[in-house]
Amino acid sequence: MPSSDSFYITTPIYYVNGKPHIGHVYTTLLADCMNRFQKMTHHKSFFLTGVDEHGLKVQQTAEARGLSPKELCDEVAASFSSCFTNEFNFQFDRFIRTTDEDHVCTASKLWSILATNGFIYKANYEGWYCVSDETFVTEANSTPGVDKDGNPCRYSNDSGHICILVNEENYMFRLSAFQEPLAAYYAAHPNVIIPAHRQREIEQFIAAGLKDISVSRSVKKVSWGIPVPGDSDHVMYVWIDALSNYLTGSGWPDPTNIWPASFHLLGKDIIRFHCIYWPAFLLAAKIPLPQRYFVHGWWMVNQQKMSKSYGNSIDPIEVARKYGVDTLKYFMLREASPETDPSISEDGIVARLNSDLANGIGNLLLRCWAQSLLPTRKWPNPASISSTPGDSFASCQQKLVAKQSIASVVATLNPSEKVLVSINADLANTLVTSANGLSILCIEHMQDLLTSKTLGCIFDVVESINNYIQTSEPWRLGKSPETAPARDFVMYIAMECLRICATLLIPFMPDKMSKLLNQLGVPDNLRWIDENALTVGRTAAGCSLGENQGILFQKYEEVKESSSAPKKAQKPSKKAQTAEVKVE
Ligand code: MSP
Repeated sequence: MPSSDSFYITTPIYYVNGKPHIGHVYTTLLADCMNRFQKMTHHKSFFLTGVDEHGLKVQQTAEARGLSPKELCDEVAASFSSCFTNEFNFQFDRFIRTTDEDHVCTASKLWSILATNGFIYKANYEGWYCVSDETFVTEANSTPGVDKDGNPCRYSNDSGHICILVNEENYMFRLSAFQEPLAAYYAAHPNVIIPAHRQREIEQFIAAGLKDISVSRSVKKVSWGIPVPGDSDHVMYVWIDALSNYLTGSGWPDPTNIWPASFHLLGKDIIRFHCIYWPAFLLAAKIPLPQRYFVHGWWMVNQQKMSKSYGNSIDPIEVARKYGVDTLKYFMLREASPETDPSISEDGIVARLNSDLANGIGNLLLRCWAQSLLPTRKWPNPASISSTPGDSFASCQQKLVAKQSIASVVATLNPSEKVLVSINADLANTLVTSANGLSILCIEHMQDLLTSKTLGCIFDVVESINNYIQTSEPWRLGKSPETAPARDFVMYIAMECLRICATLLIPFMPDKMSKLLNQLGVPDNLRWIDENALTVGRTAAGCSLGENQGILFQKYEEVKESSSAPKKAQKPSKKAQTAEVKVE
């Protein structure tokens, strides 16, 4: 059971009509990243994901395969849950299924409250129903056409899927009663939807007028659903059932529940359900509204939305196995921002892998662990540049963690002229200042789940560390006893800045970054995202380096082909095996 002071993060529950694709993995990845980030910033956090099992589409697919709907759901739910856990190492707290007993109770309870409060009524309803999207569409939101037998039908403007005319007695929800309250709510909460342009879209939609919606289907047409309380001739139409999963996951109506959600994550395809229907249901039931929504775009392949029907789906498991799970995670979290539709391609993944990961942070780790630069196999002592023999690390550390300038840290150590020149104090100061400010900056960006911005800031520092090493040439400094202390200073600063970057990267690439920190020998008590732990100077000189964890990121090289041949796959680089580390 979630605890009441938890941060609460949700993903949409996914339809069980196929195997998980990149889009499902992406939303769940975002939630996993935020959940880990919250935990590393000392917050309790509860992460809910799962599957949406009821509806006509599942009923029809199961029939076509000669299975019962529950059998089909069991099979697909297991494939989602296994993909999320075993392939992607997502640490969700609950995998909800809408056939779960407690969910059936919650959805029924919500329905009963809506009915008791006078917001549900029965009416004869005629409308165009899109089975594929499990939604009714308006005339304005669809285009007339003919079906494969030549009968008149309509096609959804949003998805292009076919819609059939449905005429039956349904239960209706008085959405129209919430036009004013919803408009007032969004006016009073201008930043509740990220990105801002999506909130404006919703405000305009509300301003254009809200009509009552059908919330049930006759069992004669759809039997695979939660029965309407008190009327077994009807089942709930999927969206009351589906959206109330967020309440079930919170433990509602138990008094210890963690409702409201801190963050609902979703793709732009289902924004109206989440940002209009859902708050209206909650207002009608007098239940608090979610605190924020994060709405992202669609992953595109060759300028087209990735989808099974276009035949351009990329299998997330295949790509993750080929390039590495954390490489795919990094690619997606780095490339996508909520304002746009991001593009995915193997070339794009390889470019990020080779530059930021293999050449960037992977190379940096090799430098910060190299035998020739760290001959004692321990964290070097920056105070060894002192002209006073035996000057201790403690006084130097005190100044570093108090964030004094590198110039003032160095001044008290009073090194020889040659050492002073060698450590590039100005460059070190700029680097340390940015590394020390990084945790605050990342926490700020991650409040809005801006993963691309967060990663951009961290990788700017990774680049600066590599530049600092490149400019200072510790491999040269180590060759003379006179300048060897400068090498220790340079390496200590570089390693501390790398430690800060890698710790901040744990929520994004948990497996690789834990390996990196293990190899550096970073103690567990420093693996937190807070300003205190993430300040240069925290790691004690003399701390032992860890074991070699192997090549962190394997570089890929393009197979060069004649210009007429289509671009071919990539192959692992031999160079990467030996690591491009300049240590002398
Ligand atoms: N079952 C409903 C959601 C109910 S939530 C109460 C549903 N399911 S779905 O299987 O179609 O999943 C839709 C979600 O999957 C999107 O909102 C998004 O989170 C993710 N994506 C599916 N395709 C996507 C892309 N091509 N790109 C990015 N995300 C996409 O709708």
